[in-house]
Amino acid sequence: MADDIEPKTETLAIRTGHHRTEEGEHSEPLFLTSSYVFDDAAQAAERFAGRAQGNIYSRTGNPTVRIFEERLAALEGAERGLATASGMAAILSVCMGLLKAGDHIVASQSLFGPTVALFQMLARFGVTTTFVALDDVGAFEHACTKSTRLLFLETPSNPLGVLGDLAALADVAHRHDAKLVVDNSFCTPILQQPLSLGADIVVHSATKYIDGQGRGLGGAILGRDSVVSGEIFPFVRTAGPVMSPFNAWVFLKGLETLSLRIKAHSQNALTVAGWLAEQTQVEAVYYPYLPTHPQYALARAQQSAGGGVVAFTVPGGSREAFAFVNACRLLSLTANLGDTKSTITHPATTTHGRLTPEARRAGGVLDGLIRLSIGLEDVGDIIADLQRGFAAVAALA
Ligand SMILES: Cc1ncc(COP(=O)(O)O)c(C=O)c1O
Repeated sequence: MADDIEPKTETLAIRTGHHRTEEGEHSEPLFLTSSYVFDDAAQAAERFAGRAQGNIYSRTGNPTVRIFEERLAALEGAERGLATASGMAAILSVCMGLLKAGDHIVASQSLFGPTVALFQMLARFGVTTTFVALDDVGAFEHACTKSTRLLFLETPSNPLGVLGDLAALADVAHRHDAKLVVDNSFCTPILQQPLSLGADIVVHSATKYIDGQGRGLGGAILGRDSVVSGEIFPFVRTAGPVMSPFNAWVFLKGLETLSLRIKAHSQNALTVAGWLAEQTQVEAVYYPYLPTHPQYALARAQQSAGGGVVAFTVPGGSREAFAFVNACRLLSLTANLGDTKSTITHPATTTHGRLTPEARRAGGVLDGLIRLSIGLEDVGDIIADLQRGFAAVAALA
């Protein structure tokens, strides 16, 4: 490629980070090795002391994992990427790297359930969290104290598709000398780049759209080199919540098709959301790219499509939601999302089941809520399956 041509997103997703070895391989090499051999004792000593670059042990770095880190960093517009064993390991590592006892987090109350549970666990170590409404910039501002070090959010949130105004919240964070951390698992850098809007750190569950076919667990942390390498990497290399080289290789294959997939997921999801909105048996539909979404204008400004997750409520509660879920035969009843296969979940008793009823209500996770991750099957077939769900709910009456 000529040096003066800036590669576009799709090119970066396929080409970045692979420095071909002397074997001349075309596909990225998979280095399934836990340690590396040194030329001599002096070289080992230099590398261990940090005075020389080079491989030591796969807890501190692995060539296949590094390709993934470089590639995702290029897509997010980050100086540095750091891969982790899971999305939750990424969030934990950010907290362990950047926080100490006495520090405070202001977090969205619309978060993936285990993220809320993790922040609550941090209280045992002297780190407290205030949860506020994601769509209320003033509430974030109001909750900040002298001890606030992080603002944390997902946008759109899981499962309700609430948005946080990234530029405005980055301003709030920086006025309070805190960092804005954004979980970008739902949009991926193809639809939204939080760092370009002022966020300091992006985290991912690579398990979702980056893998895209439900095969492996992984996560990532992206941001400035001084923060990711300087403050978070020392925890990761010591404690070891690192990505396996095999999973990195799988995710590299996922990144190659991410742009095509997430756009197709978004198109199918918009069709399903529009269809659900027309059904008389639906109380509410939650999808950021529906014109009726209260933050539709922000969604259009901040992300280039709506993503693949749609949620809706059926009248009644768990009984009706269970009947709906049990009647579906194509959609898989499983907690993962971002897969080519469409999935269906009852958040109140699964992903958000460990939260207290009050915390669930505050986050809007009602008993009649159903979450769909719209896959890449024929959209007519997906809608036909949802019709089975509505028929089952009608049969209860
Ligand atoms: C938005 C979001 N963040 C983080 C996670 C956690 O990721 P992992 O399961 O890879 O630990 C999930 C999992 O569903 C998620 O949906």
